[in-house]
Amino acid sequence: MSNVVVVGTQWGDEGKGKVVDLLTARSDMVVRFQGGNNAGHTLVVNGKQFIFHLIPSGILYEDKKCLIGNGLVVDPEVLLEEMDKLKAAGITIGPKRLSLSEKAHIIMPYHRAMDLARETAKGKAKIGTTGRGIGPCYEDKAARTGVRAVDLLDAEVLKEKVAANLKEKNFILEKFFGAQPLEADPIVESYLRMGETLAPYITDVSVELDQAVKNQKDILFEGAQGTHLDIDHGTYPFVTSSNPVAGTACAGSGIGPKHLHHVVGIVKAYTTRVGAGPFITELEDDVGDYIQERGKEFGATTGRRRRCGWLDLVVVRDSVRLNGLSSLAITKLDVLTGLDRLKICVGYEIDGEAVGQRPANLRRMAACTPVYKEMSGWQDDISGARELSQLPEAARAYVETVEEVTGVPVSVISVGAGREETIVVRYPGE
Ligand code: IMP
Repeated sequence: MSNVVVVGTQWGDEGKGKVVDLLTARSDMVVRFQGGNNAGHTLVVNGKQFIFHLIPSGILYEDKKCLIGNGLVVDPEVLLEEMDKLKAAGITIGPKRLSLSEKAHIIMPYHRAMDLARETAKGKAKIGTTGRGIGPCYEDKAARTGVRAVDLLDAEVLKEKVAANLKEKNFILEKFFGAQPLEADPIVESYLRMGETLAPYITDVSVELDQAVKNQKDILFEGAQGTHLDIDHGTYPFVTSSNPVAGTACAGSGIGPKHLHHVVGIVKAYTTRVGAGPFITELEDDVGDYIQERGKEFGATTGRRRRCGWLDLVVVRDSVRLNGLSSLAITKLDVLTGLDRLKICVGYEIDGEAVGQRPANLRRMAACTPVYKEMSGWQDDISGARELSQLPEAARAYVETVEEVTGVPVSVISVGAGREETIVVRYPGE
């Protein structure tokens, strides 16, 4: 392998976890570079179920190093809980296997409180955040008032920062939102305690990556969420607070772009989104329910039912440009089995006029109607296919349409939840 970045091309939940797992086997290190515990994916290995929110799933392999980059916002309670659960399942966790960037920002209890208070106050206009304090933590990062992992190791700095932050947050929580204020001492105490446990893991991730590059190690960069949840390029304001695009692999971990060799975009065979925001190909009918049920489309983090719709290639095409995608991995193709007719959105129109890409103005986006290519479905179970030629003709045509419309080759196709239920056309980066 070489150094590969994996990103979501839609609104998150594309099934990145499975492709990351596939590529982890061929790499030495796995790095996360943005987001936080708003992400989540489930892996079943040897009959045991693991849910990951922060730690890369590469931790399940004894010989891989997992790194949490500076671009993340980290809730230390969630991280420690995840570490404990893995230890209880017999997985060795130690600083040789896991690093946390000293520059990663820390989610504090007042971030969660602000997230929930703000969403409640917005009522119908809410974004539908995961309520994990992600946005408020990134806000403090930009405001230059954030707590970083390295601050958990310095009682004086932490005390000062928490006191200064609470002055402002408590004012807003109480006076603006009518919510409960928070006390500084218990927060400082518990965060210092967590800092003590995390101390051996807190390092300079950029230096570690530099060493790895010099030693010609293969590095996998694991993106979270999806391109259209990107705070700059997504359906703003219905987005997350970080940049899930591939470029963040550099800024969010401390490595230069010349060290990235291949970017693989994960495309779920249909579209889903959780939370509010525009969704041109949404299906609010029996077909949408069929996809939702067969695809088990519930959020791994919040358990919310995901909205489902036809594959939107306008969205994917935008992602090709925004991420510089080298190849695509199509996931959950098997979920579409059993539908007589399939539709793929290949363009948008407003009042009969073609629209090149997804408009930034959400009112204009809401005015878009999808232009569909209609295709035949397939009825045969495809989960046993291990080569393209073993797919029914209609399924192959579906994959070919994705390649034609996006102009990017498909490297991997997932035809079931199991590790082995995969067609590898070509390993990304090889
Ligand atoms: P936040 O990231 O919790 O602030 O939520 C902002 C928006 O991003 C909401 O619509 C969430 O549902 C969505 N979101 C955040 N993380 C994920 C994810 O991992 N998958 C899908 N949607 C997500």
